[in-house]
Amino acid sequence: MTWRVKKWTFEDRIIAPSLLAADFGRVAEETSRAINAGADWMHLDVMDGNFVDNISFGPALIQAVHETNDVFLDVHLMIARPDHYLPRFVAAGADMITVHVEPEAQHDVATTLKAIRDAGCKAGLALNPATPFEAVEPFLADIDMLLVMTVVPGFGGQSFMEEMMAKVEAGVKHRRENNLAYHIQVDGGIGAGTAAIAGKAGANVLVAGSSTFGAQDMAEAVREIRNA
Ligand code: DX5
Ligand code: ZN
Repeated sequence: MTWRVKKWTFEDRIIAPSLLAADFGRVAEETSRAINAGADWMHLDVMDGNFVDNISFGPALIQAVHETNDVFLDVHLMIARPDHYLPRFVAAGADMITVHVEPEAQHDVATTLKAIRDAGCKAGLALNPATPFEAVEPFLADIDMLLVMTVVPGFGGQSFMEEMMAKVEAGVKHRRENNLAYHIQVDGGIGAGTAAIAGKAGANVLVAGSSTFGAQDMAEAVREIRNA
């Protein structure tokens, strides 16, 4: 297990293209394309058709990405019972594993976060647009990243919900007041314009699917998000 996240702090802007928007017939090449375009992390959206209304991919595909490319793997689990599947995502090469706080994820959040860290991974905690900031508050001392969803999870290509910036700001305030160091990630509808809004609110990890993989020039798209 490499420990590559150590070189990033919450003061770095990290661009994480979402593989969900890539050509699934060429996953290794698409990942290389993102890295060559300047991506810092790869964001891997795992969906189980239960926690969200879509099915994407699982550990086997993540392992293929891991074996063909050297990049930090940011795994976003939109699945029920993430604790049960954790060892498989760890074995597949995940560097960060993010789980959801909502009751529909059907796990004991504190126990899962500890299990992720005990496995040598970074631990992220996500909240959906309908979930209030207070739901994640009890866990913030035990995470490496807070993921504020800026769309209802399940599909790429949806519109950014600017109202969610209040939760990003609450995350920044809590981090400062409690002397913590977690990253704040936003996911959904991020492009150059919305990256500026999210960055201003205090998000430092920007997930972008359609705006990067769908761009004519991916390097230009990544640069625009980075400089926004
Ligand atoms: C949404 C996923 C996102 C999605 C983002 O369920 O968690 O990561 O791939 O896609 P875009 O950037 O197209 O909104
Ligand atoms: Zn995601």
